[in-house]
Parts: sequence; C-alpha cells; structure tokens
Amino acid sequence: MRPAAHFTARDTWLNDPNGLLHHAGVYHLFFQNNREGQVWGPMSWGHATSTDLVTWSEHAVAIPNTAEENVFSGSAVVDVHNTAGFAGPGQTALVAIYTSAYTSASSRPGIQAQSLAYSLDDGHSWTRYANNPVLDTGSSDFRDPKVFWHGGDDGRWVMAAVQAVDRQVVIYSSPNLLDWTRESTFGPAHAVGGIWECPDLFPLAAPDTGGTKWVLVVSLNPGAIAGGSGTQYFIGDFDGSTFTPDRLSRSTEPADYDWLDYGRDYYAAVTFNDAPDGRRLMIGWASNWDYANDTPTHPWRSGMSLVRELRLVRCSDGRLRVAQQPVLPHSPSAVRVFDLEIPSSPGHRTDVVLGSGDPLSGTVTIAVDGDERTITCDRTRSGAVDFHPAFPSVDAAPLIDGDGATTHLKIVVDASILEVYVDGGLVTVTQQVFPHQPLTTLHLEPSPAR
Ligand code: FRU
Repeated sequence: MRPAAHFTARDTWLNDPNGLLHHAGVYHLFFQNNREGQVWGPMSWGHATSTDLVTWSEHAVAIPNTAEENVFSGSAVVDVHNTAGFAGPGQTALVAIYTSAYTSASSRPGIQAQSLAYSLDDGHSWTRYANNPVLDTGSSDFRDPKVFWHGGDDGRWVMAAVQAVDRQVVIYSSPNLLDWTRESTFGPAHAVGGIWECPDLFPLAAPDTGGTKWVLVVSLNPGAIAGGSGTQYFIGDFDGSTFTPDRLSRSTEPADYDWLDYGRDYYAAVTFNDAPDGRRLMIGWASNWDYANDTPTHPWRSGMSLVRELRLVRCSDGRLRVAQQPVLPHSPSAVRVFDLEIPSSPGHRTDVVLGSGDPLSGTVTIAVDGDERTITCDRTRSGAVDFHPAFPSVDAAPLIDGDGATTHLKIVVDASILEVYVDGGLVTVTQQVFPHQPLTTLHLEPSPAR
C-alpha cells in the first residue's frame, strides 16, 4: 500500500504539509505528525527533505509537542535580512511560524496563537523562541499561519491565517516576524459549509497581460465539492494589505466555485517558499477528515500528494484558472504514469479501467462522458472499501476547457494514491485506493453510441 513517489512517514500518522521551504539546494517538507501513533493525536512537526521532489528522507521530529502545547500547522521562511535577530554573525536563520494549540495542561487551555521556532543549522535542529507566542488574539480558532516576504529589500513579512469558525482569512504584516499588525480580512465567501483552514496566498504570472495575479487558497472541512474536506481557491489582486478577488459568485452551488481538486483526497494544500526559478510548487495531504483515521495501512497512515507545479490559464469562457502538473523528474519503477487521449465529443463515453489482472483484487473506473461533459472516478470496487461508509465513492468533475473532441488524461498510480490530471491539469482528481494487488493494468471500454 505504501506509495513510492508520495511521501509517507515511516511508522506514524501524518496530516497537513507544513513549513514547505527550499533552502541551500534542499526542499524541506515538515508535516503534522503524531510521533507516537497511527491516528491523529498530539501534534508535532515531523520533517523530511528531498533534492528531487520525488525521493524523500525522513528526519527526527523538528518541533515536538509538549504537555502544554500541540504544534499545529504553519510555514517556514529564510530570514535573509535577519529581521528577527536570531542569527549570529555569519549565520542564516530559518524560522518556522506555527500555531501553538494550548492543551488542558497549560495555563491557556483551548487557545490557539502563533509562535516561532528557528534553526541555525539549515533546518537540522530547531529552538523555540523564548517569548512565544508572538501573535495571540485570545481566540480558540486562530491558526495555520502562512508567512512570506512581500516586496523587495524594503519589504515586510505578510501572514495569512484563518479564523476557522468565522470562515475568514486574516492578513497580518510584520517587519521582524515578532511584532504583527492586522491588515485585513477576507471571507466568508464561496464554500462555507465547513470551517476554513490552512490558507495560502501567492503570486502567479498572468498568462496574457504579462502582469501578476494573486491566488488565495482556502481549505474547507467539511463541505467540499466531493464531500468532506477539500480545497477551494480565489484569483485576484493583493496590494500587500488586502486581497481583492476578481470574481465573487453569488451562487450557492459548489460547482460554481473554483476547486484545486475534485477528488476526496486533497486537503491542506500549500506552496513552497523560495522555490528556485520562480516556480510555484504545492503539496496537499492526500486524505479526507471523513475517514483519515480509518484507512487500512500499517504502521504508517496517510501520505502527501505529488509535488505539483502551478500556473494560470485563461480558459475559453474568459476565466483565469489554476492548472497543475505533477513534478516527476523521474518516476520510481512502482509508479505507473498513463498519458491518454480520450474521445469526448457528444455521443462518446469511455470507461478507463485500472486493475491488476485479477478483477477480485480491485478496479477503479474513470469515465469520460462527452454528453455530460464530466469525468467521474468510481472507487466503489477498488479493493478494501468498507473501513468507512464515506469511502466507497463515485466523484465527478467537469470537463472545463477541452477542445470539445478529445480529453487528455495523465493518470499517476502509486500504490494507494491515484492522481488524475485532466486537460493539462485544469481539473485534478486525487483519490486513495486500497486494492488487494497493485493497479498495474489499464484498458479502455468505449460505450456504444447512444
Ligand atoms: C487541518 C488542521 C489544521 C490544524 C491541523 C492540526 O487539517 O485541522 O487547521 O492546524 O490540522 O493537526
């Protein structure tokens, strides 16, 4: 069941990616980790590194929980200008900004506030800042800070965090990571059927104007397009203080909003700080809070998505959308990558069936329907499905912007994680599957003309 190109922890539970950072030629992936168990529990920041974004090495826990404090999600930066003053002469500090979720053993039970830890040895070891927390509003639902540098040498730090239950992203600024000023709020907007978590805010090149647009990513649990937890996004402008979306739909239909993924297993997705060559690289947690604690793997539980590169595309309806491509500079032999061109004009329907040769060990059917203009992924017969009632699902996504005649599918199968990239990644569908034998075969079943 353990994937090869998707990160999993050796023998423990993980959830959200945290602190995604490129520094000194190394990609750092921190993650929500129960270092003592296989279900969600006391949270620490686990740590893994990679140089190729495919092969990950797990290291010692970076920021361990304590009796008083769970270490919830957040981000990491390189403090190039030593604004916080943690670095001595000749040193560079990496700074993690995380949520202190204070336990009942603390003097502030239930409060969530933002704290710092720093590393002076390129991320190997981490020290908590002595005067934590640095941002405390007395709230019990204030978390998941994403911090990045905004502006040139005379710029400042910007933080996007959530007031989860209010369905709001709150933006703060700081000259030094220590003193924070509230700038603005965004939301509630679009999907609000659950709480808001794990925001991200980043620029992408606009495809036609040569300018820059900003993308605000908001994870939502429950209430996502496929059910349970999922990730929506907004495209707009950001002036250093306020995010202004280009488009706010008044519709109450989730289908009218923008989603990073239409499967059940893509949550808490955030991007790397300081990726080389201006690339915008994202990782999501490939699970769903509906059943994350019950998936049938051992001794590890839950994996990350592949790393995905993001860009903006102007679609034929005039709208900008985010397109995603998997970053797989090489793929381990256990990983299957299928590139298919499927007829999808009206009257065509094709089932793409993934299996192992033995139908009893599990199949997954991806159907491209030219009449409905949808792609659906059916995992109801994919092997082990009965560990939770929400798991055996058929999930649908729209065919957004094909040429009307064919639909391109890139399907990546890596043991228990399946990712489908449709028409250049304008739509993605990420699903866990637990077949009794690896899914290695693929065949097409065109439906007779209707
Ligand atoms: C999202 C989340 C975050 C929180 C973390 C706790 O999956 O609920 O909001 O920081 O997980 O593990």
